[in-house]
Amino acid sequence: MKYGRFDDNAREYVIEDPRTPHPWINYLGNEEFFGLVSNTAGGYCFYKDAKFRRLTRYRYNNVPMDVGGRYYYIKDGETVWNPGWKPSQTELDHYECRHGLSYSRFIGEKDGVKSELTCFVPLGVNAEVHKLSIENNSDIKKSLQLFSFAEWCLWNAQTDMENFQRNLSIGEVEVDGSVLYHKTEYKERRNHYAFYSVNAPISGFDTDREAFIGMYNGFENPQAVMEGASRNSVAHGWSPVASHYLDVELEPGETRELVFVLGYVENAEDAKWESKGVINKAGAKRIIRKFETVEKVDAALADLADYWDRLLATYQVNSGDEKTDRMVNIWNPYQCMVTFNMSRSASFFESGIGRGMGFRDSNQDLIGFVHQVPERAKQRILDIAATQFEDGSAYHQYQPLTKRGNADIGANFNDDPLWLILSVSAYIKETGDGSILDETVPYDNDDSKATDLFEHLTRSFNFTVNHLGPHGLPLIGRADWNDCLNLNCFSKDPNESFQTTENQTDGSAESLMIAGEFVLYGREYIRLCTLRDIDTAAAQQHVDAMVESVKVHGWDGDWFLRAYDYYGRKVGSEENEEGKIFIESQGFCTMAGIGREEGLCEKALDSVAERLLCEHGIVLNNPAFTEYVLEYGEISTYPAGYKENGGIFCHNNPWIMIGETKIGRGDRAYDYWKRIAPAHREEISELHRMEPYVYSQMIAGKDAFRPGEAKNSWLTGTAAWNWVAISQYILGIHPDYDGLRIDPCIPKDWKEYTVTRRFRGAEYRITVKNPNGVSKGVFMLLVDGDLTKGNIVPVLGEHGVHEVEVILGEKTNG
Ligand code: GLC
Ligand code: GLC
Repeated sequence: MKYGRFDDNAREYVIEDPRTPHPWINYLGNEEFFGLVSNTAGGYCFYKDAKFRRLTRYRYNNVPMDVGGRYYYIKDGETVWNPGWKPSQTELDHYECRHGLSYSRFIGEKDGVKSELTCFVPLGVNAEVHKLSIENNSDIKKSLQLFSFAEWCLWNAQTDMENFQRNLSIGEVEVDGSVLYHKTEYKERRNHYAFYSVNAPISGFDTDREAFIGMYNGFENPQAVMEGASRNSVAHGWSPVASHYLDVELEPGETRELVFVLGYVENAEDAKWESKGVINKAGAKRIIRKFETVEKVDAALADLADYWDRLLATYQVNSGDEKTDRMVNIWNPYQCMVTFNMSRSASFFESGIGRGMGFRDSNQDLIGFVHQVPERAKQRILDIAATQFEDGSAYHQYQPLTKRGNADIGANFNDDPLWLILSVSAYIKETGDGSILDETVPYDNDDSKATDLFEHLTRSFNFTVNHLGPHGLPLIGRADWNDCLNLNCFSKDPNESFQTTENQTDGSAESLMIAGEFVLYGREYIRLCTLRDIDTAAAQQHVDAMVESVKVHGWDGDWFLRAYDYYGRKVGSEENEEGKIFIESQGFCTMAGIGREEGLCEKALDSVAERLLCEHGIVLNNPAFTEYVLEYGEISTYPAGYKENGGIFCHNNPWIMIGETKIGRGDRAYDYWKRIAPAHREEISELHRMEPYVYSQMIAGKDAFRPGEAKNSWLTGTAAWNWVAISQYILGIHPDYDGLRIDPCIPKDWKEYTVTRRFRGAEYRITVKNPNGVSKGVFMLLVDGDLTKGNIVPVLGEHGVHEVEVILGEKTNG
């Protein structure tokens, strides 16, 4: 069952039934000011940091879910309704929510009145702009009353919901014509305020929540709205809000357009005040003036559309399958940019007060957006690398506001360092800018300890070399990519966090996933050494030794082991009762091609197909754990089939897809991709529950109570890795140091597809033809009509447009 449809031309998902199985959200903002907005206009906004600069209040895990947001109430006689259906939930004659790229539009119709609300954050502006049009399509004159509503958060989203003995006494506002200001704590240590304006005279306002709503009413029926009159309340303490009241008289056929702006302003310390106790409003007025007319708002919306045109033009496919095209051309790159902006901080599953930027998460996210914003990706790499320690290890997380490592979140995840090699090499392959390796980057943000970035990579590589266990395999530390495989934790206290609690340090638990990662990114490191004419013999020996250790100690007969535990016992082996086979080591060891000649990759991937695959994707481990295993940690705390315990963790499915492409099985790779691609799951939205336009972190696996049900949409490494799997390994357009490598691995029955790829300043129009019905192998490559050996399209300088023709076939032209 569907709740809407894709409108590919408009690049929108159109939700036609407000009762989606979960709030389906979108993100506003691309720089410093951000908003989360649900399909019923719920959500909140913040400046830079969802914890420390929360502008509007939001209540998590509320009943009903998702109340609080940008609410406009239209009172037409006795009927009160909202353009986005909520909070009044008055049945609308027509409802539509159009989630587009960085904007959302709500269209509501009731009794001959049509309202259209468009919300977005203009480029370069620290404000949400809400354009609201109200049209009288009836044949009688309408005298409507319009109320806006936003509830302020007292800036720190954490203390806002804890410290009521203080909070309920500190709220302060100012009212100046049609602009309502929020200035709590401004007179002491803060130099910032928020405002909410409308570009028209108002008939009234409210800034005190209880005055507006009433102590015994809710968002769905505020007293002021029900009675059709604002109280003109000025908040002193309690809960400051902002609500405008306007009378809207409309003749039949008449439309009224209004612009509301909800923004954030910082003032210099010596320019805080206009007069004693009165804030300096110049900054707000500047923003308000920018959007004083609808024409100016429309121009800003057009700029936003151009911005997305440019970002998306980097890679456009015409595959012949509309679901594939809409994922590749619109929604997957869009989600990648959202993960760039948010990391794991703010979604409807991440509270915005918990997690900062993950070291491994951010490095992996980067491979999903580096082609869209290479300059910003470069800065991100330098920020991340600056939180590395001198021994190559890293803070697991850092805070976006300060860019400092955060020691509260735990450390010693031994996979962390290697991801830096992935992100840096991806950046250089995309841009050709090897000079990034010469940038001076501190350790632990301490400038007195700094080396060039290349040295950081060397220390990443050496970190693994220096932390090997008894089988010559990498020690796992607190955990590897799988945060929940805590082999040194042994936690018996439910008040302890698996992520931060003290670990045993005398154990020798080893990870086969890090082993595969080391081989894969170790080889990448060696390639970088070669580019710098550095002797690679020693590094090569370490990689070769690791390959041997995996073959000798990491092979279980039909698949790769997952780990050795604290006591040196096998994890992920046929000899285990539960958790016999895990996905991560199959993914990384096959991506690295370990034992490919001996058939190990093929065998491991066949075992994945046999044991881990189900209708909805590939589960993480099987059988799922049904009991708590003290020596495995958090993984065995989750009910079977969920999260890291046998859930379909969509982040790692692409590792298997890529592994399949390495051995040429395009039908399988594409089939796996389709199983979890949200557009391909749209038809089962009632089961899937999450947005059909973005990936979720997890889909319940075959051992779950309700297989196929997804959770944790939006902020997940799934976006980046699926992007890489489909765009680089299946469609096969792969940036490399010396050009675009063309290496498709597709279903055999695909006849032809085209990709337009902008790469290092030029545009490559690539047509891939498959007359022989193969999956893989470039038989012929023509670049601007010239026969070219191998499968690399060389870098042809900036600005040109180049025609590339690829014929696939068994016999390659290498
Ligand atoms: C979450 C974390 C990520 C981790 C994964 C598996 O997605 O953000 O860092 O690798 O879970 O545990
Ligand atoms: C929990 C989650 C895991 C996530 C981790 C982050 O362990 O299960 O997915 O990566 O928290 O701290």
